[in-house]
Amino acid sequence: MAEKSFKYVIVGGGVSAGYAAREFAKQGVKPGELAIISKEGVAPYERPALSKAYLFPEGAARLPGFHTCVGSGGERLLPEWYTEKGINLILNTEIVKADLASKTLTSAAGETFTYKVLIIATGSTTLKLTDFGVEGASAKNILYLREIDDADKLVEAIKAKKNGKAVVVGGGYIGLELSAVLKINNFDVKMVYPEPWCMPRLFTADIAAFYESYYEKKGVSIIKGTVAVGFTSNDSGEVKEVKLKDGRVLEADIVVVGVGGRPLISLFKGQVEEEKGGIKTDGFFKTSVPDVYAVGDVATFPMKLYGDIRRVEHVDHSRKSAEQAVKAIFASEQGKEIADYDYLPYFYSRSFDLSWQFYGDNVGDSVIFGDHDPSSAKPKFGSYWINNGKVVGVFLEGGAPEENQAIAKVAKLQPPASSLDVLAKEGLDFASKI
Ligand code: FDA
Ligand code: NAD
Repeated sequence: MAEKSFKYVIVGGGVSAGYAAREFAKQGVKPGELAIISKEGVAPYERPALSKAYLFPEGAARLPGFHTCVGSGGERLLPEWYTEKGINLILNTEIVKADLASKTLTSAAGETFTYKVLIIATGSTTLKLTDFGVEGASAKNILYLREIDDADKLVEAIKAKKNGKAVVVGGGYIGLELSAVLKINNFDVKMVYPEPWCMPRLFTADIAAFYESYYEKKGVSIIKGTVAVGFTSNDSGEVKEVKLKDGRVLEADIVVVGVGGRPLISLFKGQVEEEKGGIKTDGFFKTSVPDVYAVGDVATFPMKLYGDIRRVEHVDHSRKSAEQAVKAIFASEQGKEIADYDYLPYFYSRSFDLSWQFYGDNVGDSVIFGDHDPSSAKPKFGSYWINNGKVVGVFLEGGAPEENQAIAKVAKLQPPASSLDVLAKEGLDFASKI
């Protein structure tokens, strides 16, 4: 099979790839120089839509509506955009071997691709219950959500099991967003997770109490402190029951599992330095191998603001890291320098009528402020985190755009705070004054 050669190759066709492509175009990439190789069958798109509007019973989001870069308010990059720019979109193509020494990638079908500069943008994969040997976990209708094909399977199952029973395993992002959307689809929803409260990576007990109570009011039942240890199926091999460690058995027509992700870096094992489960990069997303960059979920990069190194599995960073890497590539070709990456962590989620944003670092002591009564007509509340006398993180539910900007500013500037009590009393006013 003929070898295809490109100056630049991006392996992975997700969010980072889309934003990298836009930056390549801005920097004046020439037709034929750039290829994006993706195992998905569609051009890069805004992945967050998959757990939200893609699953709505009415007015569901569908491609081409959410190809990148709409999520950041930019021009949507339709497949035609790539053609116009002379960017090769090589879809339905999984890279199964990467040889960084000879700068060669090999696809599952045996095609080879060579490059001068490689950007690794393979993102994450979902952890599967079968990986942990959970009995019966390969039954039909036990579903995961990462890519558009997974979302399509979910849409089919929602239609086939109309108004049925769903069990959602996991109390993180997928767990909370999917429980909501399944409820909106009129499913009877039970959510199961091992921790004492949902989203423990970010939420304090106070924040979680609001969401748990809100979800319960919407009819989602929450079962905490236990895990799924097995499944039974019917004669067609479809899941029928979920067995919990505490002995309870839940009926289920659909099970959605969101028990975390894992960055996809196995192709590069032993060839590139790793750190904290990802590929180690500098502030320009350069890896330990010359001409190889890593962006998005797979990159472990210096977090300048906090003087440490981290991996971030959120869309804002995937966009910004991709842009930074491409700027760095062009700058180095032109013998110029750019500033290194100075990232302010930004996470968000939306479900039901709720919408929250978080900026900064959730370390130190925290305090809740505002109206966090789940029965309020329009709850609006937040939380500040103080570390070493400075406000380092801010969470806000129900904020208006200017209020969200104000909390971002606080997290960036890290103003001193005299006490948690003062912050609790001042609430959003504290942020608005900064
Ligand atoms: P991304 O996963 O987007 O893309 C990786 C691409 O590489 C995929 O197309 C994959 O098929 C391809 N690939 C992998 N291995 C390959 C190989 N060997 N050969 C070829 N192609 C390969 N974040 C947030 O901040 N707010 C939100 O609301 C959400 N919502 C959300 C919903 C859902 C359902 C998911 C799964 C994730 C989110 N996220 C999120 C997280 C966010 O989407 C995620 O951090 C970014 O998509 C990461 O971008 P990447 O480009 O790194 O990976
Ligand atoms: P997560 O890490 O957010 O949550 C995993 C949850 O599953 C945790 O609560 C964990 O304790 C729980 N869990 C672990 N083992 C379990 C078990 N055996 N049984 C039941 N629960 C168990 O991961 P996720 O929700 O699966 O999300 C996957 C990826 O997608 C992450 O990278 C996430 O950042 C991303 N994502 C982000 C958003 C967003 O930012 N709004 C939305 C969706 C997905």
